[in-house]
Amino acid sequence: MSEPICKVADIIFVRFELVDLEPQKEYMEHFGMILAHETEDAIFYRGTGTAPYCYVATKGQSNRFIGTAYRANALSDLEALAAAKGVSIVANTEPGGGHKVTLIDPDNIEIEVYYGLQPSEPISINPIMLNTGVDKPRENTLQRFGRGSDEWQLHDNRWVYELTSKVKRLGHTAINVADAAISVDWYANTLGFLISDNLLAPDGPHSIGAFMRCDQGDVPVDHHTLNNVQFLGEPKPAFGHAGFEVTDSVDDLMAGHYHMKTVDKYYHEWGIGRHLLGSQMYDYWRDPSGFTHEHWTDGDLLNASIPATDTPARDLIMAQYGPEAPASFGATMPSEEVDDFRAATPSLTDIVKMMEQQPK
Ligand SMILES: [Fe+2]
Repeated sequence: MSEPICKVADIIFVRFELVDLEPQKEYMEHFGMILAHETEDAIFYRGTGTAPYCYVATKGQSNRFIGTAYRANALSDLEALAAAKGVSIVANTEPGGGHKVTLIDPDNIEIEVYYGLQPSEPISINPIMLNTGVDKPRENTLQRFGRGSDEWQLHDNRWVYELTSKVKRLGHTAINVADAAISVDWYANTLGFLISDNLLAPDGPHSIGAFMRCDQGDVPVDHHTLNNVQFLGEPKPAFGHAGFEVTDSVDDLMAGHYHMKTVDKYYHEWGIGRHLLGSQMYDYWRDPSGFTHEHWTDGDLLNASIPATDTPARDLIMAQYGPEAPASFGATMPSEEVDDFRAATPSLTDIVKMMEQQPK
């Protein structure tokens, strides 16, 4: 394969347009993010990591996913993208400064690539220590994540678990694409993404997408920064989900689960389980507009020396453990419509079953 135009370092944030920002602000705080900046018509949320923000929404006429922002290693990468794609390098007028180019991917997703966006001071936490059957490093220290049972409070006669997850950063997006080969080639050639897993269709050896990661040479990076999938039937470009890494492992993920569950305002989409591709523990929730966001922890890290693996699409659906993958997973829809959709549509796990029971 020819050299890509550039090799981006990492993902920074996702950008949405929303009709009403207020319900989203409430959701983001329950989901475990911190309001970093706010204007009349935009909200910028951060995690505990160094990205100045990892979620941006602007007020608009519709609820829609606009796109994803990535971090370049050098200004010369922006110059190379500008020259190759016929776009301009512009000064970033939003918080954090720096410069960016804006591209459009084959599925009409806006791709912003930044250089010089000012990092934020990370927010430190006290990491927990786990005692296991193999190793017991924690002695004479009690395992507490907050104030103990004080974290359970009564709200209108209902118990609510008050600790949220502590989101650290955005780790990846998943997108549904019109043509897997075109999307995979575009991200490989434009942003330097490598294929971690090449997803093989259940009904043949052709690819239906990939899990792709950044190429940072010897430096290990997340197993996937992007998952592009071409759904069976008539694939339509669409947002799948945004995956946010929590700060402190399994208990941080579990705290968020019980907070979201007991707040009882949002649709639980899928989880808790442990993925095969990337190996993360996962938990998926829908926001007030029906977009899906993931809490994840303990993902695989790979450097550029690891070759692509051909992987059956079964492994995308069948986690190492966890509940069945619902029919609605990967589709954006208002939460009120999800139950009816699920009742009328076989789950993704059922689709795998049907395919495996077909006579060979
Ligand atoms: Fe994910």
